[in-house]
Amino acid sequence: MNIHSPLDPVAELQATAALPFGEARAMPKSVYTSPAFAEREIERIFRREWICVGRASSLKEPGDYIATEIGGEPVMVLRDRDGTLRAQSNVCRHRMSVLLEGRGNVSRITCPYHGWTYNLDGRLRGAPYMEGNAAFDRKDLCLPQVRCADWLGWILVTLSEDAPDPHAHLAEAAAEIAPYGMERYHEEFREDFVWNTNWKVLAENFMESYHLPVCHAGTIGGLSDIEDSVFPEGRPAYNIHSIMKDPSFTLSVAHPSNTRLEGDWRLKTVLLTVYPSLMITLTPGYFWYLALQPVDPGHVRVRFGGGLAPEFVDDPEGPVHFQALKQLLAEVNVEDKGCTERVYRGICAGMSTPGPLSPMERPLYDFTRYIAGKVA
Ligand code: FES
Ligand SMILES: [Fe+2]
Repeated sequence: MNIHSPLDPVAELQATAALPFGEARAMPKSVYTSPAFAEREIERIFRREWICVGRASSLKEPGDYIATEIGGEPVMVLRDRDGTLRAQSNVCRHRMSVLLEGRGNVSRITCPYHGWTYNLDGRLRGAPYMEGNAAFDRKDLCLPQVRCADWLGWILVTLSEDAPDPHAHLAEAAAEIAPYGMERYHEEFREDFVWNTNWKVLAENFMESYHLPVCHAGTIGGLSDIEDSVFPEGRPAYNIHSIMKDPSFTLSVAHPSNTRLEGDWRLKTVLLTVYPSLMITLTPGYFWYLALQPVDPGHVRVRFGGGLAPEFVDDPEGPVHFQALKQLLAEVNVEDKGCTERVYRGICAGMSTPGPLSPMERPLYDFTRYIAGKVA
């Protein structure tokens, strides 16, 4: 495809990304629907950036694991015997079966096909009836290791050898949210599902609060004052905005025993998007998140989880309130599912065209420029 053709999604996106903020528009339709563009995103973004797999606290004991796919690559993340987080290929070194599925705990990794076994550190331990093959050498058959980091309690994994260390790369984001002490927030639930929309439609939905009063009129619309929102210019690795919450929403404001947060911080909620696809709503009392991975242009795999700040974990009423909140978040999610799946249907329509963005959608403008930079 000619890169200068107006039908080329990359060129179309560059044109949108070059607009000044005062004339910002939604991304071109092809960026959401083109299979070739989706493949380019896998190659340039999901196989090169740090991708969130979940919360490190969900892997507590040695042998606790999560099996996942990063940019189409089966990867397992586990808690090793020495307590470190380890990520490695989840494919057997014999005839390449995928090894672990879902989540669980193992003392060793056993291939479900012919029973080769691996230690948690990926070294091949047992392989039945292989003595007769002179080329077989256990030492050559370890599971390839994958870079993994614990950033403020988030498990981040990358297939890239060159991606900068997230502690440096995200230092500015960490500083912006430092007062919350997010690393000590405790995950209370997590779920996985697939929605019928493009991953960027869902990401964009999460990073703007412009839709709260209407899309979420039945749930949280009235609890958030979007006119008080602050939308700083996005940074290369993330965007962030904040809204103030009504103190009647007890869990979303600082617990009386929370002495870390002062002044406005006690009422402030931040919405942080760590590129490409970790979206965190962080409040003084609870957090919830989405970690996204594209399946194909029209489907996104979503990991949805959340939990409580330590003061609410320690308060006997905290988990009770959280059950109510979880119900509310589930209803919010149903509203977001409806909105984002309708957007995807609209994007696929023949007569639709991308419209102008509100200044309240500042993070979408920054996200557009991020995507444009990565796929160029
Ligand atoms: S493919 Fe794993 S033991 Fe054969
Ligand atoms: Fe929403």
